[in-house]
Amino acid sequence: MYNKRGSGKLYFLQLRDGTGTTQGVVVADDVSTEVVELAEQLKMESSVIVKGKVVAHPKHEGVFEMQVTDLHAVQIPEEDYPISKKEHGPDFLLTNRHLWLRSPKQRAIQVIRNTVINATYEYLNNEGFIKIDSPILTPAACEGTTTLFELEYFEEGMAYLSQSGQLYLEAAIFSVGRCFDFGPVFRAEKSKTRRHLTEFWMMDAEAAFVEHEENMKIQEGLICHIVKKVLELNQAELKTLERDIEPLKKIEAPFIYKTHAEVVAELREMGSDIGEKDDLGADDETILTKKYDKPIFVEKYPAEVKAFYMKRDPDDPSVALCSDLLAPEGYGEIIGGSQREDDYETLLSRVREHNLPEEAFSWYLDLRKYGSVPHSGFGYGLERIVAWVSGTEHIRETIPFPRMIYRIYP
Ligand code: 4AD
Ligand code: MG
Repeated sequence: MYNKRGSGKLYFLQLRDGTGTTQGVVVADDVSTEVVELAEQLKMESSVIVKGKVVAHPKHEGVFEMQVTDLHAVQIPEEDYPISKKEHGPDFLLTNRHLWLRSPKQRAIQVIRNTVINATYEYLNNEGFIKIDSPILTPAACEGTTTLFELEYFEEGMAYLSQSGQLYLEAAIFSVGRCFDFGPVFRAEKSKTRRHLTEFWMMDAEAAFVEHEENMKIQEGLICHIVKKVLELNQAELKTLERDIEPLKKIEAPFIYKTHAEVVAELREMGSDIGEKDDLGADDETILTKKYDKPIFVEKYPAEVKAFYMKRDPDDPSVALCSDLLAPEGYGEIIGGSQREDDYETLLSRVREHNLPEEAFSWYLDLRKYGSVPHSGFGYGLERIVAWVSGTEHIRETIPFPRMIYRIYP
């Protein structure tokens, strides 16, 4: 029972069972005195078993309530529930995350997250991708060495928590053709933005004989499918969250495609001080994605600012065959992807240029030695997608137990 109104003659119990909520009406004249006494005693978050007759709400069409005939308390808390209807600050709520999860909006976000996960499996399986699980304990970095969590690994020296399963999926495509993984990844991000967690869920997808253009088409199809499923299955949750669904209805292929150079020019016209070789800053992503009502692919970044494994554009080797997908309404980057360097010598020189430990990457280089093929892939951040689709400002609310540099509890 998440709330109660009334007293004496009439009680309205707000009840929740995980699938939804309803109102139980206790009319003192119609039930035993035990039931009335119990209704009087019930406090917020008491657990109860109720029996009664389900009837249409007298005033609200389509709403049903229960005329309670019997009531049994499973547990009545001794203390008052710490989360009330009044406004609480984010710190308080995050410290009470284990209880905050029970709130209607928090439940709605988790239900939408579940839909996003299922829609992802559904779309990728239909496109011929099979799930391949990548390891979390790894001997080397995937996305640069500045955000690695390290630990001592027995006699083997240092190990690192995975930043992305991509490199392992590249091994697996030579076995299964197309594959994806889905699991927690870790980044010791020093940034305290609304878009960064230190532990988040990533889906990496990888496919043999797919090049840059087709890689983006797969992402486009995936995002359209996810949005479609959320609109189809989660109308009630979107309403609870007061999410304006008009922008979501506009999400259909084709998305907007722009090169990094085009985006830099456009941002400068809008007043940004972004440099030619800069990654888009959080503010840049916000102003750009507020300008368009569809997701934007930002393609072909200057190769030197991107990861070592990205293939360069044969028509202009100064840029990489990569793309970031930015979600509209100010949400910004949700996917990073690229075609991969498939030539052994070229990749070896990139490993050296990036000062990466050659030995730890020797298995990865092997993939270019023995039957290499053109291939591409991408990775999405689940919390970023859920934040956008559900209209949640900060991604910390989209994961059940957020991990940030200043928070590990509960
Ligand atoms: O762009 P990123 O770093 O790409 C990769 O890791 C590639 N290896 C993926 C691949 O090609 N298979 O990360 C992918 C996505 C980002 O677009 C963003 O949505 C999310 O992961 N992300 C984060 N989400 C929350 N907190 C963070 N600190 C994040 N860092 C990245
Ligand atoms: Mg990225």
